[in-house]
Amino acid sequence: MEVFETFESRRSIRKYKDEPVAPELIGKLLEAARIAPSSSNVQSWKFKVITDRETRSGIREAAFGQKFVEEAPVVIACCLDLEAFAERGKRTLELITKGKVRPSLSMMLRSARGARDKEFAPERVMINGTINVAIATEHIVLAAHALGLGTCWIRAFDEEALERLLDIPGSLKLLVLLTVGYPDQQPAARPRKTLDEITI
Ligand SMILES: Cc1cc2nc3c(=O)[nH]c(=O)nc-3n(C[C@H](O)[C@H](O)[C@H](O)COP(=O)(O)O)c2cc1C
Repeated sequence: MEVFETFESRRSIRKYKDEPVAPELIGKLLEAARIAPSSSNVQSWKFKVITDRETRSGIREAAFGQKFVEEAPVVIACCLDLEAFAERGKRTLELITKGKVRPSLSMMLRSARGARDKEFAPERVMINGTINVAIATEHIVLAAHALGLGTCWIRAFDEEALERLLDIPGSLKLLVLLTVGYPDQQPAARPRKTLDEITI
């Protein structure tokens, strides 16, 4: 599928066929996330794939009863990995030692300073980390669509209840759920702002 066709024909899917998704396809979705770009290449994401009905039923409850969350055969919990930022210096050194970037003195000093770098301020970690997870999540969405699967981003949920249910460790922050499955609907495109409205 040509990339613009993928963008234009994607829809949020809220009705799924009662058909499992092959593990190889789930693997491809995770691979799409794995190769996403991220700030300083920190790759600050972790994913949990949920397929069992009982857990999906619990997720539905924590997602304020959104029915399709249980009906989708797969739910992917997309988490921000806070610990990944502690390895930011290591990631930069990896880029340098593998010859992927030409090291500048300032870059080397920043790597060496590691966790004391002011870029580790909590609000920066949350903002950069959230951007990183969002990019990887949308990679999954677009890859799924190209593979004939439907998805829907879900943010409306009780975070604490879901983190408990899914046993998400304290170093991770659950940011978004993705439902995944074979679409059983063909929604019309939702309206978008014009180019004029989104440029300044
Ligand atoms: C961050 C984010 C959170 C969302 N949360 C929900 C949600 O909790 N429930 C839902 O049904 N759709 C949710 N959506 C889907 C949006 O409603 C949808 O993307 C938007 O209306 C545009 O429709 P489209 O995706 O079909 O183009 C979310 C989308 C995003 C990007």
